[in-house]
Amino acid sequence: MSNADDTAGTRRDFLYYATAGTGAVAVGAAAWPLVNQMNPSADVLALSSIRVDVGGLEPGSQLTVKWLGKPVFIRRRTEEEIEAARSVDISELPDPIAQNENLGEVDASDANRALDETGEWLVMMGVCTHLGCVPLGDAGDFGGWFCPCHGSHYDTSGRIRKGPAPTNLPVPVAEFVDETTIKLG
Ligand code: FES
Repeated sequence: MSNADDTAGTRRDFLYYATAGTGAVAVGAAAWPLVNQMNPSADVLALSSIRVDVGGLEPGSQLTVKWLGKPVFIRRRTEEEIEAARSVDISELPDPIAQNENLGEVDASDANRALDETGEWLVMMGVCTHLGCVPLGDAGDFGGWFCPCHGSHYDTSGRIRKGPAPTNLPVPVAEFVDETTIKLG
C-alpha cells in the first residue's frame, strides 16, 4: 500500500468514528439524563452497528475502522490474495475453525471467512489473538498480516500460520447492505 493510501484510510477512519460519536453524545445528553443509566447507554447503542462506505477502496488496499472500541480491517483483496488464501490445505492450519461469527463453527476455508462469494472482501477484527496487539497489513511470511509484538504471521485470509497467536483473526457479524456499504454488527 502506498503512503497516499495510508493517509486516505486514516482520514476516512476518523470521519466514521467522529460521525457516530457526535450523534451519540447529542442523544445521550439531551434525552436521557439519569433515569436510564442502567440501560445500555445511547452511545453504546449507536455504535453497536455501523455502516462503512467502501466505495473508494481499491483492490489491494484496506480500511481500518474503529468499532466498539476495536479496530476492524476491511480489505478489498486482489486476485492474487484470494488465490493464495484459497489454495491452502486446511489440514495445515494451526486453527482449522473459521472464527466467523456469521457462520458458527465451520472450517477455516477462505470461503467461510470472506464476506462475499467472490472472496474480494474480507472483514476481520484487527486484534491479534495472542495478546491483543494490532497486526500490520501487507506483512509477514504469508503476505497477509504480521503482529510485531511477538511475531505472529497471518495469511491473506487472516488465518494464523506461524507464531504464538492461537486462533485466526475473528470475523465479526457483517454484511453488504448495498453495493458500496458494509454494515458491521
Ligand atoms: S500480541 Fe500479537 S503476537 Fe503477541
